Amino acid sequence: MKKIALFTSGGDAPGMNACIRSVVRTCIYHKIEVVGIMRGYEGMIDGEFISLNSKSVANIIQRGGTMLKTARSERFHTSEGRKQAYNNLKAYNIDGIIAIGGDGTFTGASIFNKEYDIPFIGIPGTIDNDLYGTDYTLGYDTALNTVIEAVDKIRDTASSHNRLFFIEVMGKDAGFIALRSGIAVGAEAVLIPETKTYIDTLIKKLQAGRRKSKTSGIVIVAEGDDAGGAYEVAKKVKEKFNHYDTRVSVLGHLQRGGSPSAKDRVLASQLGHAAVLNLIDEKTNLMIGLVNNNITSTPFDKAIKHNKSIKKELLNLVDILSI
Ligand code: F6P
Repeated sequence: MKKIALFTSGGDAPGMNACIRSVVRTCIYHKIEVVGIMRGYEGMIDGEFISLNSKSVANIIQRGGTMLKTARSERFHTSEGRKQAYNNLKAYNIDGIIAIGGDGTFTGASIFNKEYDIPFIGIPGTIDNDLYGTDYTLGYDTALNTVIEAVDKIRDTASSHNRLFFIEVMGKDAGFIALRSGIAVGAEAVLIPETKTYIDTLIKKLQAGRRKSKTSGIVIVAEGDDAGGAYEVAKKVKEKFNHYDTRVSVLGHLQRGGSPSAKDRVLASQLGHAAVLNLIDEKTNLMIGLVNNNITSTPFDKAIKHNKSIKKELLNLVDILSI
């Protein structure tokens, strides 16, 4: 393992820069040359490779986003695109690849591994936390803290105006951000794609709160919920239950930015280091993770196939604590 290529892919996540720093510094420590690929698979296909050294990653551990940029790549879904990428990697004498990304990234890596002989290691970098084989993905903790900071502000105005707020959070088709942030902000209800949403049940919950003279409330809606996003849910509730004046806030892409939390910085440093060691030890075509504080590795196909389940006890907790 003499030369490693590193890239970030999919939606950016706080902690990606800390992870890039860890990979580069670990490579240098082990006398391995490291190049960065710009814009994920797009840059791999276009041959946008840059040399990285210790100085390249100075003063980035605290920065959100990714210095290597990122992109989603339709071209990598084609065999011609992957072939072009492979030719570029060979031209640069790359012996191993480290990809920081989400399920789309590892889906591509898994297909590439079946066609070509350059080994991959994946690092789970997505705020969605929807990858099996790690308790937390890079960026998830920071995104949770961003959500609770925003919702705490919304709660101030909700209680001042006796309003019911429906707040939409990211997560694609997963409810991990919604569930933990809902508990952390003391939401009246949390709606997630993993469980069917019944508007009548939600209304019963809100009516119970009203009977306990709750004058305002917060409902967290995961963007992928089956009842629709926050605007759709608010409309459906309002049609049958109009006791509260309601408003909607879609938090959107602010959940993707910001300086990574301590938890994300340490996780990024651990996973970046472990990824390089895996390539050195030729334990490859795996996603590195941290489970119960132990470094683990999971085959790509297992990591991405929606195997990660929601903790039912956390859903029950929302109901119990919001009486
Ligand atoms: O996968 C991360 C994520 O932020 C999802 O939660 C969200 O649905 C999606 O990316 C948004 O994608 P884009 O940044 O391309 O709009």
